[in-house]
Amino acid sequence: MLLGVNIDHVATVRNARGGCEPDPVPAVPLAIKGGADGITVHLREDRRHIQDRDLKEIRKRVKDVELNLEMAATDEMTGIALKIKPDMVTLVPEKRQELTTEGGLNFKTSGKKIKKAVDLLQGRGIPVSLFINPSIADIEASKKIGARMVEIHTGLYSNARGGKQAKELSRVKKAVKKAFEMGLLVNAGHGLNYTNVGKIASIKGIRGLYIGHSIISRAVFVGIEKAVNEMKKLIKESE
Ligand code: PXP
Repeated sequence: MLLGVNIDHVATVRNARGGCEPDPVPAVPLAIKGGADGITVHLREDRRHIQDRDLKEIRKRVKDVELNLEMAATDEMTGIALKIKPDMVTLVPEKRQELTTEGGLNFKTSGKKIKKAVDLLQGRGIPVSLFINPSIADIEASKKIGARMVEIHTGLYSNARGGKQAKELSRVKKAVKKAFEMGLLVNAGHGLNYTNVGKIASIKGIRGLYIGHSIISRAVFVGIEKAVNEMKKLIKESE
């Protein structure tokens, strides 16, 4: 199971002061040294963390692992992706007011925009993953739209406790199984941390986990390389 490390929050700390420290670019080789199989950045429309310059510099440095660009399905972002050529794109819904990506894509309100971005990007050789809620209908919609991959939103699982968490885990498992049966590659992510990752990592068939906030938070105390390495070990032990 691959571990994609989202380094956005290095840039969040930098942007808090409007200067240039800490630079997310040197976080890339450290995360890779720690065992990251991929680097993820989310270029948000309001540029609240990752900036266009970061993306360009990171693209130059990510060669042997996968560069995953998270973005909204807009013409501006599709244009940037076609120029930068990440190894894959994950389409996410985006709201200006949200603290983080709150839910999966909404095919009812944004189906046309999503399909346009998928067709353009995949037509130019960039595989697209759709960030979706653990719902059978959304997996069917992803397949219909022609995406190669989905990323199942684990946020509700991550935030739930006790019996509720077991229920959310079961929803994620069912969604992974359905996506797998439909021939989609299946990823998972959001809200995963050192205590809740094990049950998700033990689900058979998941291609990769995409984790950011918990790793960068831990990195404040132990450094990025060690923080990534600890997460990688937990995933391996649970597989
Ligand atoms: N996957 C997607 C699609 C996301 O939008 C995010 C947050 O940027 C993550 C994974 C990582 O979430 P977290 O920072 O909670 O680990």
